[in-house]
Amino acid sequence: MISQKTIAQIFETAKIEEVVGDFVNLKRRGVNMIGLCPFHDEKTPSFTVSPTKNICKCFGCGKGGSPVNFLMEVDNLTYPEALRVLAGKYGIEIEEDGNPDKSKEQRQHQESLYLINQFTKDFFIDQMNNTDIGKSVGLHYFKDRGFREEIIERFGLGYAPSDGKSLMHGLDKAGYEKTFYEKLGVVKNGRDFFRGRVMFPIHNLTGKCIGFGGRILKANKKAPKYVNSSEAEIYNKSKVLYGMYFAKNEIRKKDECILVEGYTDTISLHQAGIENVVASSGTSLTIEQIRLIKRFTPNIKILYDGDAAGVKAALRGLDLVLEQDLNVKVVLLPEGEDPDSYAQSIGTEAFVKYLDEKATDFILFKMKLLMEEAKDDPVKRSDLIKDIVNSISKIPDPIKRSVYIRECARQLDVGEKVLINAVNKNVVGNIQSRQRQQEINERRANRNAFDEAGFPIEDHSNDTSDDEFGPPDAHSDSKEFQTIGFQEKDIARILVNFGDREFNEDKTIAQFIFANIGEILDTFETEPYKAIVQEYLEAVKNKKSLSPQHFLNHQDQKIRDVALNFNTSPYEYSPGWLKRFNITTSQPVPDENFINDTTQALMRFKLEKVKELCEQNNDRIKAISMKDHPETVKRYLQVQMKLNGMRKEITDQLNTVVP
Ligand code: CTP
Ligand code: MN
Repeated sequence: MISQKTIAQIFETAKIEEVVGDFVNLKRRGVNMIGLCPFHDEKTPSFTVSPTKNICKCFGCGKGGSPVNFLMEVDNLTYPEALRVLAGKYGIEIEEDGNPDKSKEQRQHQESLYLINQFTKDFFIDQMNNTDIGKSVGLHYFKDRGFREEIIERFGLGYAPSDGKSLMHGLDKAGYEKTFYEKLGVVKNGRDFFRGRVMFPIHNLTGKCIGFGGRILKANKKAPKYVNSSEAEIYNKSKVLYGMYFAKNEIRKKDECILVEGYTDTISLHQAGIENVVASSGTSLTIEQIRLIKRFTPNIKILYDGDAAGVKAALRGLDLVLEQDLNVKVVLLPEGEDPDSYAQSIGTEAFVKYLDEKATDFILFKMKLLMEEAKDDPVKRSDLIKDIVNSISKIPDPIKRSVYIRECARQLDVGEKVLINAVNKNVVGNIQSRQRQQEINERRANRNAFDEAGFPIEDHSNDTSDDEFGPPDAHSDSKEFQTIGFQEKDIARILVNFGDREFNEDKTIAQFIFANIGEILDTFETEPYKAIVQEYLEAVKNKKSLSPQHFLNHQDQKIRDVALNFNTSPYEYSPGWLKRFNITTSQPVPDENFINDTTQALMRFKLEKVKELCEQNNDRIKAISMKDHPETVKRYLQVQMKLNGMRKEITDQLNTVVP
């Protein structure tokens, strides 16, 4: 693990305008800087960088954050990866701590796997460009297929000699461990695994070589056309998309990902200037690959070879894509063509035009295909309708669903109502099972919150016969929980934004908050507010305070996100309590007013808690009989009066304090 000290140093050093500046052309505008958003296509700049707050945000698409967050988003890095990149940029030496030996060993292990692959890649490239056989066989093959030098270089294409031992000798000489390179599968059973093949290195998102595909040169019935590296720690076929490293920026900019099947298709289209292209490497699309695409765009265009026998089977797998709420279009290439051959034969312009014209929405495409097959066969037609209904039901967005229903009803010549009913039945089934689980989870969470609410007034010391009264069932109270969630957000917001500022001479805002409501802070129910409060409480105990930067750079994505929101969107009061308590302001609370802001937030929070207890107590009173438990009822009534008093007091205060 990177030590806290190093992380702090990185946070202090990294300047948002410099980090963003590596990706975006920034112009000064007042105290801020502004440029074209790297996360979506735009013509007028709305990507704003605030050097004073050390954050950035796009007011078009909402993305942004601290330097770390920005890097994670723009380059799809993990948190530690982003920290390492920043450390590199600013020449900060990384100090490790925690469980250093194990994690260091693991990283070194992984690192050596990458190094071996890199060595192997360089070896194949060298063989192709600097040996006679490499040039006359390997390079000649690629050139013959129409690949130009710069694209061959960009994709790191190479040639594996056929002698079966020169790579292994090279690896040995360079001092790499046999167990490691055998694990990667570049050498197997003491022999080079790739022999007499042209080589396609496979890269991960950050451009590291994780494996290889090797293509045979001449058609040969006995040997497979392609062979691949072994799937091991760093290479997992179902999780990678070939070419993603080279395509990701263009995918984000075009807001569309073109998916092809093969290595050569990808390379060919990149060469043609169509760079938002990746390949599934011949396998059917997996959920991991879909999620990978979704990190960059919700729009995906799949190109199928015209003669692909498996198109229909492939289409079935695509329901997976619909579930992920991606917009899928399908393009069928003319018979006998694949993207590589077709783009090369008709040229870029005509190819792009073809894609535009022929792109068909996936569901409509599937319907057309099945209709052609079913013709007038009633059984097949009814199967087809069921199939389509299933696909439509997978779409999470109800508006999209209804558009599809209308179109399908028209094309299938079925009543719209019939389709609506069938889809709804499916959807309800799908949702119900999901919802049931969610409700159970929520109810459990709420119940725990009540159980644990150690509010001081609730005195159980005299209880003798209370065992039969469990906590009131909370599930009917979802509105109330939203309010409580809001109050918690309120407190978290103040801690994040102003926690480290002075409340008065001897207290910070955070200390003031904990001094006032410390005893009920462990009743926070909503994440990530709960985590924020707990972390802050720990810091205050250790006499530390946490700056907004701390949360903006937080390791936890959810915390970073809310911190960014707290720091960028004008704060709005909950309409609910505005109305209820007749509070007459809806002005955003300005930064300077944070002391008043804090006191009010605390009162609002207390008020919600008191109300919660009032209702809880009320339920208890209703649930027991005066005749059987007169003493308990009496005590509950006393508690109720006390709570009502508190409630009124706080409401009065709130009404007078609010300007
Ligand atoms: N593939 C594979 N193993 C095979 C055949 C195919 O891994 N035996 C994968 C490769 O990733 C290949 C993709 O499936 O790129 C598509 O296969 P295919 O269309 O047969 O190959 P192309 O990439 O079109 O190769 P070429 O144009 O050189 O025939
Ligand atoms: Mn091909």
